[in-house]
Amino acid sequence: MASNLRLALVYGSAREGRFCDVVGEWAQRRIARHGGFDVDRIDPVEWPLSGRPSRADEAQLQQLRQRLHAADAFVIVTPEYNHGYPAALKALIDACYEPWRAKPVAFVSYGASSGGLRAIEQLRQVFGELHAATLRDGVCLAHAWRQFGPDGELREPQAAHAAMDTALARLRWWALALRNARETMPYELATEAAA
Ligand SMILES: Cc1cc2nc3c(=O)[nH]c(=O)nc-3n(C[C@H](O)[C@H](O)[C@H](O)COP(=O)(O)O)c2cc1C
Repeated sequence: MASNLRLALVYGSAREGRFCDVVGEWAQRRIARHGGFDVDRIDPVEWPLSGRPSRADEAQLQQLRQRLHAADAFVIVTPEYNHGYPAALKALIDACYEPWRAKPVAFVSYGASSGGLRAIEQLRQVFGELHAATLRDGVCLAHAWRQFGPDGELREPQAAHAAMDTALARLRWWALALRNARETMPYELATEAAA
């Protein structure tokens, strides 16, 4: 599928020994197979997100903002921590106010019995504040560590593959629609046009 749509694959966990790499790499393979996006992986480990950023940190964070600005769509891969989402993901989101605007966001979540659903419901509130459009469709992996084999592939992949393929098809629809809309009228001008 020919495409110049850009997708930022954002990792939620910065924990040493995290399972996020297994789920994120699986998600990246599914996105590559779908073929409708060029992928840029955004990993909170790579950015100075804790404490008060220095000037040098600010320069690095500017690169993060530019990479998110370049994206037409987002897939967030996140675990659930204490019925919420990780602090590292919140720090990354809060470091970048504008790049999410008028763009679609899909979720791949994982955790114990809930599969990360409570984290996702919280993230919907956060992305609403950031003027992003969250998708109904996504992937939710309960007891994720049991679902993947040592090769990093799902032992019983049918349901998750179907869910991911549906999410990507709809994410692409939203990404194209919203990119066209942003090109027709920058989102920042929407309130002026209505006046
Ligand atoms: C601090 C912490 C809190 C957790 N809280 C929950 C939880 O509320 N619900 C849940 O389903 N799993 C919970 N878990 C299990 C994680 O979802 C699971 O360990 C997952 O693999 C963590 O992702 P990571 O390894 O990529 O950091 C928690 C794990 C940690 C480290």
